[in-house]
Amino acid sequence: MGPYSTGPTYFSSAPFGIATMNLGPFSAVSKSSLAFGVLSASIVILLTTAFVRVPGAHAGPPGASSTQPPTYLPSISDMMIETIQPRHERIWRAEQAGDWDFVAYELGNLRGAFGRLGRAHPTEQNTPLPDMIESVTKQPFEDLKVAINRRDGAEFGKAYDELSEACNSCHQALNHGTVVIGRPAGAAQSDLIFGKAGR
Ligand code: HEC
Repeated sequence: MGPYSTGPTYFSSAPFGIATMNLGPFSAVSKSSLAFGVLSASIVILLTTAFVRVPGAHAGPPGASSTQPPTYLPSISDMMIETIQPRHERIWRAEQAGDWDFVAYELGNLRGAFGRLGRAHPTEQNTPLPDMIESVTKQPFEDLKVAINRRDGAEFGKAYDELSEACNSCHQALNHGTVVIGRPAGAAQSDLIFGKAGR
């Protein structure tokens, strides 16, 4: 059992820690008036600097930077819809179709997607995202791997529900409890054909 295997403990303490940190600097009135003074002074300096610099901007070297499109960093929400949610669903659909090879393949891809999510967004609401991902997904991923290796449908079902719980515990911890994940229901809207590879 590693330090991150106790998911619920990690999350129950984190929000309180964050709340205390955020409230600290604003609790004393004298401190906030001082902060306001400093802020006003900073604004004056910023405005002055901006005014002085504007004419110089036109004389700058003709760089290509202004014509380059801005870098697109997918938001956490974008990555959830693009990379996490479809793989979560595919893992289920493939198992239902008995295509264990695809289940194993997609589980690897889901892990990879979580890794990229953590690297793209190292912190969210003062919480290190990679640690949080590791904390909630480690056990379900291990259990899924065991179930896949044994080709055990019942074990798979349990481990899959654990994984969905992992999704939900992070959503709750990051104030997005409205996003509730479970077993895919209804017909698959998919062009993937399971169980036919190599035939
Ligand atoms: C480490 C934290 C974390 C984990 C684990 C996690 N999510 Fe999320 N997810 C988020 C956050 C944060 C948001 C809200 C992002 C926003 O809207 O700013 C979110 C939002 C979503 C959304 C809604 C996106 C939208 O715009 O409608 C879906 C769907 C989703 N997650 C699916 C999943 C699934 C499926 C899993 C598990 C396989 C999962 N998530 C695991 C953090 C997580």
